[in-house]
Amino acid sequence: MSERLWYESFAPPPTARPARAWLDSDAPRLPLDGQWRFRYAERADGPLDFTGPAFDDAGWDSLPVPSHWQLHGYGAPAYTNVTYPFPLDPPHVPDENPTGDYRHTFRLPAGWPPGSTLLRLAGADSAARVWLNGVELGRTSGSRLTTEFDATEALRPDGDNVIAVRVVQWSAGSYLEDQDMWWLSGIFRGVDLVARPDGGIDDVDVRAEYDHVTGAGTLTVAASAPDARVRVPELGVDVAAGETVPLASVEPWSAERPRLYDATVSTATETVRLRIGFRTIRVEDGVITVNGRRVLFRGVNRHEFHPDRGRAVTEEDMLDDVRLMKQHNVNAVRTSHYPPHPRFLELCDEYGLYVVDECDLETHGYGDVEWRGNPADDTRWEAALVDRMRRTVERDKNHPSVVLWSLGNESGSGRNLAAMARWARHRDPSRPLIYERDWTGRDVDVYSRMYLNVAEVEAIGRGEEAPLDDPALDARRRRMPFVHIEYAHAMGNGPGGLAEYQRLYETYPRLQGGFVWEWIDHGLRARTADGREYFAYGGDFGELLHDGNFVADGLLFPDRTPSPGLLDVKKVFEPVRLTPTGDGGLAVHNGRIHSGLSDLDFRWVLEDDGEVVARGALEVGDVPAGESVRVDLPALPATEGEAHLTVQAVLAADEPWAKAGHEVAATQLPVGVRRPAAPPATPVPVRRDGARVHVGPGVLDERTGRLVRLGGWDVDGPRLQVWRAPTDNDRAPHGEALEPLWRRAGYDRLTHRLDEVTVTGTGAVVRVRVAPASSDGGLLATYTWSALADDRLGLVVDVDLDGHLPGPLPTLGVLFALPGELDQVEWFGRGPGEAYPDTGLATRTSRWFRTVTDLQTPYVFPQENGRRADVRWATVTAGQGGGVRVEGRTRFGLTVRPWTAEALDRAAHPTDLVPDGRTWLTLDAGHNGIGSASCGPGVLPPYLLPAAPARLDLELRVI
Ligand code: GAL
Repeated sequence: MSERLWYESFAPPPTARPARAWLDSDAPRLPLDGQWRFRYAERADGPLDFTGPAFDDAGWDSLPVPSHWQLHGYGAPAYTNVTYPFPLDPPHVPDENPTGDYRHTFRLPAGWPPGSTLLRLAGADSAARVWLNGVELGRTSGSRLTTEFDATEALRPDGDNVIAVRVVQWSAGSYLEDQDMWWLSGIFRGVDLVARPDGGIDDVDVRAEYDHVTGAGTLTVAASAPDARVRVPELGVDVAAGETVPLASVEPWSAERPRLYDATVSTATETVRLRIGFRTIRVEDGVITVNGRRVLFRGVNRHEFHPDRGRAVTEEDMLDDVRLMKQHNVNAVRTSHYPPHPRFLELCDEYGLYVVDECDLETHGYGDVEWRGNPADDTRWEAALVDRMRRTVERDKNHPSVVLWSLGNESGSGRNLAAMARWARHRDPSRPLIYERDWTGRDVDVYSRMYLNVAEVEAIGRGEEAPLDDPALDARRRRMPFVHIEYAHAMGNGPGGLAEYQRLYETYPRLQGGFVWEWIDHGLRARTADGREYFAYGGDFGELLHDGNFVADGLLFPDRTPSPGLLDVKKVFEPVRLTPTGDGGLAVHNGRIHSGLSDLDFRWVLEDDGEVVARGALEVGDVPAGESVRVDLPALPATEGEAHLTVQAVLAADEPWAKAGHEVAATQLPVGVRRPAAPPATPVPVRRDGARVHVGPGVLDERTGRLVRLGGWDVDGPRLQVWRAPTDNDRAPHGEALEPLWRRAGYDRLTHRLDEVTVTGTGAVVRVRVAPASSDGGLLATYTWSALADDRLGLVVDVDLDGHLPGPLPTLGVLFALPGELDQVEWFGRGPGEAYPDTGLATRTSRWFRTVTDLQTPYVFPQENGRRADVRWATVTAGQGGGVRVEGRTRFGLTVRPWTAEALDRAAHPTDLVPDGRTWLTLDAGHNGIGSASCGPGVLPPYLLPAAPARLDLELRVI
C-alpha cells in the first residue's frame, strides 16, 4: 500500500473490531489521555520511522490527548459552512495534508487480567493509523465515531508499551464530514486500553418498554455472553440475559422525570453496570408519542464546542450544557451533526433530555456541483455510510434519552441513505428515523424540514403542504408527524419571531416542535496584539475560503454565557403557561406530558413604579399533565403609580440542574396604570446670548439648531437616528437581507440640513431636513422645545416624510452625545435585557440599573444591540455626581453606548470598539424587528418599522 492510500479509500477500514455499546464495566480500563509526544508535518507522506518502541522521540514536542492540534499552535483552524476546502475528487485529498504523528509510552498496571485487550479511540479527526509496539493495529475513519482494535498480541504485560498514531487532517472520510463547523484535527476524544476478560460481556442490548395504559414494564437485556445474568435489584429482577421479564409496575423514564433503574449484567469474569429507563417511543396516528403521550420537542441543536478546546469537550463542558439546557426549559437536543461524546448521552439519560442522535454524515458541499457524485448516492460509498450508521446505533442503543435516530445532515438524497435506513430499521425497530433532506419521507418515519416560515409550518400543521408528485409517497408523508429540525437561527442579535412558531407547535398536534439552530457560538478565544481577548471566527486565521462569522450562531456566547436569545427561548419553551384571565384570575396550564406541578411553588410580587410593595404565595395545587386550572389572583394592596403583578412558578426543591427557587415560568400583568402626574409647568422665558438660546435648563445653538448644554453638562443633539449597525439577520447571507436595501437607500449616510429655528417666548421650534445623497426623499424633523421650568425642558420630536423613502427603516429616533462620565443608567421600562419588537420576550417592566458598559451585548460580530424597550423614564448619571433624566410622555426605546452606531457598524470584533469619550444616548420611537433571516425567514410584517410619520414626546431634566 502506498503511504497515501491508507486514508484514501471509499470503504471503511477493515481492521476495527465490530461496533458495540459503550459499556460501563468493572473490567480494567486504562485511560491513556495525557501529554503525548507529537510531531507535526504539512504532508502525510513523512517517514514511518516513529512507529516502533526504539524510535527516539526526544526531539518531538508534546501535545495533550485529547485535543486538536490547531488549537495548540500547529496548522490553523479553518471554517467553512458548505464549501469543501479541497477539490471534489474522491477518494483523494490534496498532497498538502496536515499530519500529526503521536507517540505515548505506558505500562500496564499490576493485575491486568488475562484475556484480550482492546485499544479504543473515541474520536480521531479525520483518519488515523495506529501501532502498538511497532505492530500495526489498524486504521480509523469516521471522526466522531468510536474505533476499537484488538491489542492483545502486541501488548507487553511487563515493561514499556509504546502506542504510535499517525493522524491526517484530510482523508476520504472528510468527504462525509462536511458539517458547518471548524475543521479541527487530531485525537480529540479519549484513548483507552480496555481489558476484555475471557468469558466477559462484549455487548449488551437493552429493551425497556413502558405500557402507559397498565403501568407495566417489559425488560429484555440481551448480552453477547450466553451465560450472563441480568439483575435489577430495585425490581427484584434476576434473570438470564436475553429473557424477557414482564414487570407489573415500573416508573417510566421521560425527560420530565428521568427515572433510571440501576442494573447489572454479569458473568463470572465481568460485570457491566447499566442505568435502565423504561419508555416507549412510537409514531401512532401521525404523532410521535413518548409513553403514549404526544411529545413536544422544545429543542436545540448542539455541536460540541469550547472556545479553547474546540470539540475536545470535557465532562464539565458537557454538564454545563445539560444544566443550562434544563435551566432554560429545553427538553430535547439534536446532536448536530454527529454522535456526541458518549458521556453526554449518559448525562441526558440522567438529567432528562430527549435526544435525536445523528450519524456523522454530511456532504453538503456537493450541492455546489448540483449533487453530481454525491456520496449519499454513489454505491462506492455505501459500505462507509452503513458503517457510520451502524457505529452510531451500536454505540448509543442503550440510552433511554435517545428517541430518534437521524441518518445525518444535508447530504442530498440517494441510495446509500436508503441503505442506512434499512439497516437501522432492522437493527432497532424501537426508534423512529428522521433525516431532514428526505423531503419525500421515503426512508424515514418523521417528516422534517429546516427554516420554514410560519405560514409554511402552519400549512404542514393543517396537513395542507404542497403535494409530492408520487401520490403514494404523498399520502404516506401526510400521515407523518412533523419536526422542525432546525429553525430560529440564533446568529447575533435574535432570533426574532420565536413565539409565532411555538404557538403553532402548541396548536397543531402534527407539529411536534423543533430544534433551534444552534446551542453555542463556535468562536475561538483569541487575543489582540495588546492582549485583549476576543472570539475569532472564519477568516481570522487567514483561510482562503471561509464563511466568516456564520460559525457564531448560537444561543450561548462561546464562553457559555447565555445570550438574550436564550432567555427568549426559555420564555417560549415554558412548560407551564400562566395567562391572566382578565377577570381577576390566572389560568395555569400544565404543558408537561407526564408530570403534575407538585414540584413547583407559585409566588407573586407586586411592584409599584418598579418598587416591590408586596409579595406572597399563590395556591395552585397539583395540575395533571396537559390540564389547566383557574386560580384567583391575590387581593392586592392599593398602589399609587404604575403597578405590575408578576407571578412566577419556581422549583420548590433543589433539582440536580437548578436550586430551589429557580424560575421555570412567569407572567407579568399591569394592575395599576396611574402615571405620576408631571409637576405643573412654570414656563420660564427664553433668554438669548448671541447665537445661544437659553430654553429652561437647555442652551440651543441657533446656527446648528442643536442643544449644546443641559444644566451643567455639555451635550450635542438631537440628530435624527435612522441607522443601526446591521445585525446578522439584517445582513442575511442566506435570507432576505435588509442591509443592502438600507445601504442603497443611504440610511447609513444621511445628511442634515437645518431649515429654520423659530424662537418663541418660552421655547423654540427647530426644523431639520434629513436625507440621503442622490435621493429626492427625506425626513422632516420638527423639534419643539419648551422651557417647562428652570430644570425641565420639553422636547417633542415630530418626524414626517418628505417624498419617498423605502421601508422598513432600521430605526427612528434621536441621538444625543453626552459627556462620557455619565456612565450609569437607570430606567423604568422593560428589562433587564435588550428587546426589539420581536425579541425580548423574557423582559419585564420594572426599575433597572446598568452601567453603560453592561448595557452592551457582546455579540461575537459587533452589531446593533442593547436596546431597552417600553421605557417610561431613564436617567443617565455620573453616579452621585448628577446627570440627565429623560421622561417620556410617550414610551420610548433606549440605547446608551460608549460609541456610535457607525463605529459599531465598522467593527469586526468587539475589541475594535473603544469608548470615544462620550456617552451616546438614543431615544427611539421604533426599531425594525430582528427576524431570523441570517438563515431563514425575515421579520414578520407586524414587526416591520414602516417609513411613516412618528412622534416622541419627551422631557429632559437636570439631576
Ligand atoms: C443548516 C445546516 C446547519 C447550519 C445551518 C446554518 O442548513 O444544517 O449545519 O449550517 O444551516 O447555520
